[in-house]
Amino acid sequence: MISEKMVKNILQVFKSSKIKNKYSGKRISKHSIQEEKKRLYAEEDILSKLEDIFIIGPVKLRQIVHHFLEEFRKGLEYDDYSLAMLPSFVTKLPTGQELGNFISLDLGGTNFKVCKVYLENPYQIRVQQKKFSIPETAKNADGERLFDFMADSVESFLKDRNINKEKEQELGFTFSFPVRQTGINSGELYLWSKEFNCSNTKGKDVVMMLNEAFKRNKINIKVKALVNDTVGILMASAYSDPQTFIGVVLGEGTNAAYVEKIENIAKWKGPQPESGKMIINTEWGSFDEEKLVLPINKFDELLDQNSLDPGKHVFEKMISGFYLGEIVRLTCLYLINKKLLFKGQSSIIFNKPNSFDIQYLSRIERDYSIELSDTKLILQDLLLIPSTTLSDRRIVRRIVELVGIRSARLTACGVVALLNQMNKLDGCTVAVDNFINDYPHFINRMRDAIHELLGSFSENVNLIHTKDGSSVGTSIIASMVNE
Ligand code: GLC
Repeated sequence: MISEKMVKNILQVFKSSKIKNKYSGKRISKHSIQEEKKRLYAEEDILSKLEDIFIIGPVKLRQIVHHFLEEFRKGLEYDDYSLAMLPSFVTKLPTGQELGNFISLDLGGTNFKVCKVYLENPYQIRVQQKKFSIPETAKNADGERLFDFMADSVESFLKDRNINKEKEQELGFTFSFPVRQTGINSGELYLWSKEFNCSNTKGKDVVMMLNEAFKRNKINIKVKALVNDTVGILMASAYSDPQTFIGVVLGEGTNAAYVEKIENIAKWKGPQPESGKMIINTEWGSFDEEKLVLPINKFDELLDQNSLDPGKHVFEKMISGFYLGEIVRLTCLYLINKKLLFKGQSSIIFNKPNSFDIQYLSRIERDYSIELSDTKLILQDLLLIPSTTLSDRRIVRRIVELVGIRSARLTACGVVALLNQMNKLDGCTVAVDNFINDYPHFINRMRDAIHELLGSFSENVNLIHTKDGSSVGTSIIASMVNE
């Protein structure tokens, strides 16, 4: 934030008779000093209004954690509660002795990943991976189209590796959408998220749909485990670090899984597991759809209204990679319309929903150059804004920062609520995966907020990044299934 003192200092420099305009060599006139003063105050005013909209103070953080705890209890009690708290059917953490090799499929965002995972020991895991970009049309067509696309991709992966598709392979399926599991390798899809919406799929078993697509392609594969990405991440981290009790995804969507005592899962009607525990997939993206505590602002509202599923996954829409750029874009557009940014000029690209990619956010946050030159490149060369001033770029950079900080602080609330729920303030590893790996400051911002909430107990929270966690974790679960 620019303080009054800083404005005075900057103006002092302008006033100094030695300073001349660098282009004309002429002394800077009283008029331009006045102009500069006006501009700085205008910038200051815009920034402070944006800060009011996006900054979440400590009282709000506490309120959110408190509400999370109430919602966890309800989700664990009722079958169709908005915060779903889904039993994963995973009742044991790995011992580190799980071995074998598995095909692992990962569907959860823009790319579909097919991997061959070799579990040799907890410190030696080999992953061969191929990514397939999901055609936009397959995301919103009949479900058969999406599942056929997956089967085709698996066929191409097997072919590349000279694996005979008729020879039976064991597979773990990471399917990162809301699914009510009915067993370790079965579950009904009840909702799409992350702008997917395939028809003829809701209420159907996703493993059955996958098996049918394999049959159509004559691929001999046995699906041993159906796993949410968060559960996979938790398991992958617990494989080498037994203190891991929480897995968090910050990718195109956001969600978390944790280890719950079976007696706390009031809605659980299945057999009592020997361990007395069950991993719960919270589906926290759906937290507070009633909008009781979340500090939802006009840009969040607009984003939600324009989305494929208004009113759903509102927490996710404030946090995850698919949406952060859109919040930045909508905030900028608002300022452009008020002629407070880019002299009121936008561009065809900038006007297009979702054109502000999450990678632009990381790059802008990493731009420490005096002229904010990478920010300029992104705005002018990639997003085709006709021209930007340094002041414009400073405003955009601050918007990006505010949106990123808010996301990290909201995520921290969920993590702290889970630590409280498990009574694990004495020590817990929290494995965090996905876009976060490349996003500057995110983990530290989460740490700051966790510290604000937990004080010295925050030292017992070990936040770690993981990579490929979901594919590895799903293979570990597949290896634990004895049939
Ligand atoms: C969405 C999905 C959830 C998934 C998360 C992260 O929130 O509903 O199942 O875990 O995205 O991929």
